[in-house]
Amino acid sequence: MLSLDNTFSDEDVQDFIGSVYRFLGQLPDGSIAFTAEPKIDGLSMSIRYENRKLVSAATRGDGTTGENVTANVRTIKQIPKTLPADAPDIVEVRGEVYMAKSDFLDLNAQMEAEGKQTYVNPRNTAAGSLRQLDAKVTESRKLRFFAYAWGEISEMPSDTQMGMVETFGKWGFPVNPLMKRLCNIEDILGHYREIGLKRPDLDYDIDGVVYKVDRLDLQQRLGFRSRSPRWATAHKFPAEQAFTTVENIDIQVGRTGALTPVARLTPVTVGGVVVTNATLHNEDYIKGIGNSGERIREDDHDIRIGDTVIVQRAGDVIPQVLDVVMEKRPAGVEAYVFPRTCPVCGSHAVRERNEKTGKLDSVTRCTGGFVCRAQATEHLKHFVSRNAFDIEGFGTKQVDFFFESEDDALKIRTAPDIFTLKKRQEASTLTKLENIDGFGKVSVKKLFDAIDERRSIALNRFIYALGIRHVGETTAKLLARHYGTYEAFEAAMKEASSLAGDAWQDLNNVEGIGEIVARAIVEFYKEPRNLDVVGRLLDEVTPQAAEQIAASDSPVAGKTVVFTGSLEKFTRDEAKARAESLGAKVAGSVSKKTDILVAGPGAGSKLDKARELGVQTMDEDEWLALIGG
Ligand code: IVH
Repeated sequence: MLSLDNTFSDEDVQDFIGSVYRFLGQLPDGSIAFTAEPKIDGLSMSIRYENRKLVSAATRGDGTTGENVTANVRTIKQIPKTLPADAPDIVEVRGEVYMAKSDFLDLNAQMEAEGKQTYVNPRNTAAGSLRQLDAKVTESRKLRFFAYAWGEISEMPSDTQMGMVETFGKWGFPVNPLMKRLCNIEDILGHYREIGLKRPDLDYDIDGVVYKVDRLDLQQRLGFRSRSPRWATAHKFPAEQAFTTVENIDIQVGRTGALTPVARLTPVTVGGVVVTNATLHNEDYIKGIGNSGERIREDDHDIRIGDTVIVQRAGDVIPQVLDVVMEKRPAGVEAYVFPRTCPVCGSHAVRERNEKTGKLDSVTRCTGGFVCRAQATEHLKHFVSRNAFDIEGFGTKQVDFFFESEDDALKIRTAPDIFTLKKRQEASTLTKLENIDGFGKVSVKKLFDAIDERRSIALNRFIYALGIRHVGETTAKLLARHYGTYEAFEAAMKEASSLAGDAWQDLNNVEGIGEIVARAIVEFYKEPRNLDVVGRLLDEVTPQAAEQIAASDSPVAGKTVVFTGSLEKFTRDEAKARAESLGAKVAGSVSKKTDILVAGPGAGSKLDKARELGVQTMDEDEWLALIGG
């Protein structure tokens, strides 16, 4: 299950529509229809029917693996348990589970009457209700549902987005009555405003309007970027704001040593959620300077302890301090002085200079590296986090506990130590984890089982868990897919250490990886300390070879393809996306590793180089014939 790109302004929406036409190689003549519908602020859910019977329901989770919540979903009255006879054999309906605002208020009134703690907002309450172990509790919470998308379907009942949703309605699913099919940008933005005006009166929370290309054949041609479809976007409503005061400014030290200032605020409710902290990003941000040196606040307003500020919260994003109310600044407050030493380990904290641009980095970084307790523990927290090793029962609390220990049978300072903990415990007679407060025999066994379960792990998760700077989930997936095995990846990174040669070129040619990221990876593998940790980790853990993508039987799967010259049958973007969806890697330049060069009219130096290197070359028609039209 994918996510959506966000758009915030009318211009963003114009760009989105323009990009759809451009990708498809059409003039923006208003001929492509879009659907526009509210973006429900709930939890996405995929519900599977086999032979018209509900068989399973899963939350979105990390997009690939979600939580099985079938028993709880069965209690939701609005979700049909069976589909009509004309529905296909296999159907996965996707949509949003939510709690009505009125039901939420009733529930909180009841909690209050019973002297219990009240809930924060409908969305969190719905999430908690779905995760209940007792389905009876879920049932009592009266959750609701809107259907708006689908997964696997054995036979498509329609060829448009609108038609699909109408079919879901006929099958008994609630569908949103505010969904419309529109072509012109004026109409689309008009509908956005109309939904915005209705927002306060709707009995469910929404945080924007989702636009989708209506024709499913066009959706298919447009395809996906790494995480989101090219054929859809979420036009968000403006964020909600409130006034409060800055009580203090604390400095947090992150995994990469970045010193992040955080404003401690007098608690204030913004859009139904109590806000007590807001990120101040970096030294310049506090001064009112943006990342490119631009002014971000009127008259260079800086943020000081004691100031009254405007805070903004948009969706799940960390609250921001937007501006300072200068009239309310108390007399005598002084400008904030950003620390030059790490508040955790005392090492120097510096702003590096970018080698290329010569500009000062906006981030102040602790130079303590592994010596810094904050960096080391944040590394471990990242390592065990949900999208990395995801070790059940091993969260931030456990990291802090094991890290602080001085006992050889307990201490965990680096990731491999997690996997030797059981052995060290077994060998020790003195410190038994099960005798320590907060652990018991059962929970210790559970913890060790959870750790053992991760001795084999997907390559992309493994790479992501290493915590290499700039390597997020998407990049880790690209690397896993490109290099296939961990051994191949590490060998290539070491080979690329001179920032020249084939291995370096190859890394830079991976679509989606730019020079900054490439450098960061190579730097990581130059550090002996990292190699030591990874080496010890590999003694304990086996990263699986990356899964071959679904289209592995396509004739171009695994091949490196370069497009050059002008293409006539499709735009460059579409050609690239299509090749990638068939499992090919698309590179920007020709090298020894290139398998195929597709050359349109006007091809020049790349074609010459391909011929020189003996790379197979073909024209657009031959390429189309190869991939099956
Ligand atoms: S379409 C491939 N339509 O928004 C795109 N999503 O930010 C499938 N959401 O995970 C999503 N209302 O939970 C779509 N009308 C709507 C939606 C909607 C809420 C949520 C959904 C998704 C998230 C993406």
